[in-house]
Amino acid sequence: MGKRFYLTTAIFYTNGAAHLGHAYEMVLADVIARAHRSFGDEVFFLTGLDEHGQKVQQTAAADGQDPQNYCDGLAVQWEALARQLGLTNDDFIRTTQPRHKEVVSAVLSKLHAQGDIYKQGYEGWYSVREETFLTEKDRNPDGTWDAKWGQVVPLLEENWYFRMAKHQDWLIAHIEANPSFVSPTIRRNEILGFLRSEKLEDLCISRPASRLSWGIPLPFAPEWVTYVWFDALTNYYSVPVSLGDRAAAAPLGEWYAPRPVDGPELWPADVHVIGKDIVKFHAVYWPIMLHAAGIPLPKQVLTHGWWQKDGQKLSKTTGNVVDPVAVINEWGLDAFRYYVIRELAIGPDGNWTDDSFRARYNAELANGLGNLLNRAVNMLNKYRTGIVPAVATDLQADAEQSVAKAAAHLRAHELQAALVATWELVNRANLYVEQTQPFRMAKDPAQAAQLDAVLYNLVESCRILAVMLAPFLPDTARRIYQQLRIDASPADWSQTRWGVLQPGHQVGAPEPLFPRRDLVPKEGKK
Ligand code: MSP
Repeated sequence: MGKRFYLTTAIFYTNGAAHLGHAYEMVLADVIARAHRSFGDEVFFLTGLDEHGQKVQQTAAADGQDPQNYCDGLAVQWEALARQLGLTNDDFIRTTQPRHKEVVSAVLSKLHAQGDIYKQGYEGWYSVREETFLTEKDRNPDGTWDAKWGQVVPLLEENWYFRMAKHQDWLIAHIEANPSFVSPTIRRNEILGFLRSEKLEDLCISRPASRLSWGIPLPFAPEWVTYVWFDALTNYYSVPVSLGDRAAAAPLGEWYAPRPVDGPELWPADVHVIGKDIVKFHAVYWPIMLHAAGIPLPKQVLTHGWWQKDGQKLSKTTGNVVDPVAVINEWGLDAFRYYVIRELAIGPDGNWTDDSFRARYNAELANGLGNLLNRAVNMLNKYRTGIVPAVATDLQADAEQSVAKAAAHLRAHELQAALVATWELVNRANLYVEQTQPFRMAKDPAQAAQLDAVLYNLVESCRILAVMLAPFLPDTARRIYQQLRIDASPADWSQTRWGVLQPGHQVGAPEPLFPRRDLVPKEGKK
């Protein structure tokens, strides 16, 4: 087996429960993973948790818990969420795992040994309450410090710095030479604009253990712990190395004591799926860290936008949240997956409204796809005792066009566009029912052959739709195959070709895929 298609999500902070934005990122990556598997690629899909750092330490303390216990509790919830979202991740990284810490230590040791990490004193204004250094930008216009910072004191602190600044020109050249490295273009331009206009500084990669203990000790100076972003970014690489990807581990040489395992070939990552707020970490810090350590770079940082609800920021304090689990419990997993991918292209920001969720559910899932399958299977049962007639080709060209478009969009990770292309076939097939009026044909024995043809076109279109939908709506795809009594997995793109359903095949009974829902909001009902 050769190099696998390796994709990741950001790793999530264990300082609270998951919301719509996190679930969206997980689903997005899962659709890409499933699409690549359907195309026949060997895939490795990683997600997980970012457990170190000040935020987690503070939240655990506020909860009266030891940070590890606290993270263990949250990890159970997050892994459960991954299952509820139907995620097909191959591994789940937690940055508190020894396998991860070993690799972070090895990377730091190598960089330190080659002179890329140095110690320096820093004197600045420090907020005792917020446990952070402030800059001149944090001052009020009149020069005072805001009350929210509490006591602000001058502090001299020694820390360790990573020589990042010297790689600025190299990084600009790399991003220029690799147009898809930062995607979409708006984010690429943002990063290039930043790199061309501002001088990069060296990166402070340590915190004194005296004020932040919840982290990975620096291997060459254990009185400091590793800055949480240096630790977190390394997760993408620590998993391949710890699983025994020999080529991945090679640049670490003697700094990493390799175990005698022959693991999968994963590194470099093909896609890091992340949100727009953390693009600088992934498109500036991360490539420079890797480059300095002599490790090959990931191929793409795929950056999605942020969700709001009803035009407002998601916020636990104001209660403006969407709980993905509640939506799934009420509407089903596939309805949730469909809405988030169909509503928002990868890039711009999105706005969740319950009305638009309901509208898409009813129009596109219940009336569009659900109705098509129901009519096709129902009529085949009613008019032909469920037996597939001879192969006919009226909708073949339409299906082929829709399949080709969807495949191209999927390969380009344009998931919303792939769904739009898929619905072209849904709509075309529904229109075909209106145009051909099979219920009329059924009344006229002279039109038996035409009716056969219409029925074949409809069930074959439904079968192909199941295959096209499998990456997005895995359970729906499975249920379509079940109703068609096809004893195979729909997650195989080669089955999108026309004419696979054979004459004489017996289909099952119709069953509604997406029961129609009242369009009136619940609270409006008497
Ligand atoms: N732990 C860091 C990432 C480290 S990656 C080496 C982090 N965690 S996070 O939990 O705050 O965010 C995880 C992901 O969720 C990020 O990609 C972030 O953009 C995404 N989202 C958080 N809120 C979001 C929305 N409201 N909408 C869409 N995605 C959002 O950052």
